[in-house]
Amino acid sequence: RKRVAVLISGRGSNMSALIGAAMDPSFPGEIVAVLSNKPDAGGLETAARYGIPAKAVSHRDHETRESHEAALIRMLDEFRPDIVCLAGYMRLLTRRFVEHYKGRMINIHPSLLPLFPGLHTHERALQAGMRVHGCTVHFVTEDMDEGPIIAQAAIAIEPGDTPDRLSDRLLRAEHRLYPHALRLVLDGTVRMEDGKAVFAADGSATAAP
Ligand code: GAR
Repeated sequence: RKRVAVLISGRGSNMSALIGAAMDPSFPGEIVAVLSNKPDAGGLETAARYGIPAKAVSHRDHETRESHEAALIRMLDEFRPDIVCLAGYMRLLTRRFVEHYKGRMINIHPSLLPLFPGLHTHERALQAGMRVHGCTVHFVTEDMDEGPIIAQAAIAIEPGDTPDRLSDRLLRAEHRLYPHALRLVLDGTVRMEDGKAVFAADGSATAAP
């Protein structure tokens, strides 16, 4: 099985979904490490409970973004990941970091990209009067929230939705989408080539969860 490392900054519910999926021996990857830039990220404890190496590389211990990321790369590479999954990792990444894991790093974002990159996506979708909302898993490139799309899921916006209600409902869709998208990457159904997502021609990539 391929080796997957997960980067988090917080509670790590998407991380938990990936761990859960990888507990099935037929899943093409295993979670070999969880790293956080925040020592108090709740997800670190959760990962440790599953017996997965879980460590913080705090950005506060470093004066520059470059030095923090160099430390993160050293720590990550000790686990020899084939794929790095960002799961609520809330730090901007430098060109160097993105290059280092080019084609091997994916992210989940809580909107239907290219709509609503950045923060406060639920609030912004509501404000825009959208009737659907969704989440996207994409390859990470230098432009934040702009890499080639691997998979998306949409949900209906309902009357009376608040940003919190919407984000709770979307989170459940994220937890189904992320393992699905990771599987597509791990089994070679989709890969990044010349900055584009290339899908295997057998159509298996279109079967959303
Ligand atoms: C998730 O909703 C994820 O999509 C979002 O942060 C949340 C993390 O929750 N990511 C971003 O906004 C990235 N730009 P989690 O820690 O429970 O997985």
